[in-house]
Amino acid sequence: MGDGGILELGAPVLAPRAAPRHVALIMDGNGRWAAARGLPRFEGHRRGVDALRKTVRAAIEFGVDYLTVYSFSVENWSRPPEEVQSLLALLHRFIRNDLAELQANNVRVRVIGSREDLAAEIAGLLLEAEQSTAANTGLTLVVAFNYGARQEIAAAARALAEEAVAGRLRPQDIDAEAIARRLDTADMPDPDLIIRTSGEQRLSNFMLWQAAYAELLFVPVHWPDFSRADFEAAIDEYAQRDRRFGGLATADRRAKTAS
Ligand code: IPE
Ligand code: IPE
Ligand code: MG
Repeated sequence: MGDGGILELGAPVLAPRAAPRHVALIMDGNGRWAAARGLPRFEGHRRGVDALRKTVRAAIEFGVDYLTVYSFSVENWSRPPEEVQSLLALLHRFIRNDLAELQANNVRVRVIGSREDLAAEIAGLLLEAEQSTAANTGLTLVVAFNYGARQEIAAAARALAEEAVAGRLRPQDIDAEAIARRLDTADMPDPDLIIRTSGEQRLSNFMLWQAAYAELLFVPVHWPDFSRADFEAAIDEYAQRDRRFGGLATADRRAKTAS
């Protein structure tokens, strides 16, 4: 952030508390939430959708520009068919029931993940959510569905290879930017903050490329219990972090500017 500019204006030395522009959520712990209550896993997923609805409202309130939610990974197909079915049914219901509210709140929906091999019905629904909200200018809600970061990077590599073979691209022009432009997230900022609920501390094939300099936050609550207060606390925690991007710590940068 432009510390130099702030100092030149004679403003207080402390920079304004940085708000994350892009927050990504690994919504984990639905099954354990249900098991702890003697409920079927499905009930955890159902309550997880309620938590998602509240989190989207909070993101709008907090002025977040992009909210990415990991809703279904490519690896999640390995779950029992009944569970996969119930997750698909919930996505279906979320889009059907909540699209009107998203629309009213000026939310733009984007979907990342592979659309190949998806049932026509679900693919159509995702497309409808994107197309009907494409002109909205508020929060961008990015739904990661059938998403896997390694698969996303492999697809980008494939696209580059095809362009090279067709003579439209020279291998020496392939750099990090060229790869980033061919990911599903091509025109989005990288996530500033990635929050994973349920206490697990891993990325599970989520945004491996985009997470290069994201702040990671692992919170112990299971996703259905993730509240507005938890979200606010996460944003406060983010504001305390000192992002260096390989450069110097903020305090060292200030000392340098002052000297
Ligand atoms: C997150 O909750 C939802 C998805 C992965 C789709 P889980 O279903 O992974 O819940 P746990 O991790 O088994 O508790
Ligand atoms: C990651 O959670 C995927 C989603 C939240 C959609 P998982 O529960 O599938 O991840 P692992 O298997 O515990 O790593
Ligand atoms: Mg899990």
